[in-house]
Amino acid sequence: MTPGRILLTQAQIRARIRQLGKSISRHYRGKRPVFLGVMNGALFFLADLVRAVDLDHVEISCVRLASYSGTESTGKIRGLDALGKSMSGRHVLIVDDILDTGRTLSALAERLKKLGAADVKICVLLEKRRTHEIPVRADWTGFKIADQFVVGYGLDYEGRYRTLKQIRILEKQVV
Ligand code: IMP
Ligand code: MG
Repeated sequence: MTPGRILLTQAQIRARIRQLGKSISRHYRGKRPVFLGVMNGALFFLADLVRAVDLDHVEISCVRLASYSGTESTGKIRGLDALGKSMSGRHVLIVDDILDTGRTLSALAERLKKLGAADVKICVLLEKRRTHEIPVRADWTGFKIADQFVVGYGLDYEGRYRTLKQIRILEKQVV
């Protein structure tokens, strides 16, 4: 498997993040949100998004969750137990790379509410257009894409290709 056609260029990603940053800033004006990045996929998106936001008080936190094995979702979310009580009473914005089956983000949102978060919202860079297995809605979505496996800008295939600057479609290698 290898990164193929470019789906989104650096310029497209950058421009869209600027818009998301404006909208998110308007929403949280006067509040002190925590941006909770889902590692590792949201690494670059989180870093660029927080800097596109214009608010006096923003905090950053991370949670490391995994559900994928290769290009398949396993359905089991690992890592939720690491979330502490620090989310209690907070306005939490979950930041993730991609909404696919919806299992990861619905499990995370549920857990945050149980931990006493005052408000939980979701921002994803990408959303696959297929019907989510679990109904979960992103409050902010960068781009809706077809149901295909993509890599780059934080998204990986078995640990590889995260550092690509564009988002590309993973293709079978032609030999
Ligand atoms: P969900 O629980 O099925 O919504 O899975 C979401 C997680 O799976 C994302 O946070 C990604 O880490 C990973 N994922 C889903 N689709 C892709 C893809 O096309 N490329 C890379 N990672 C993906
Ligand atoms: Mg992820």
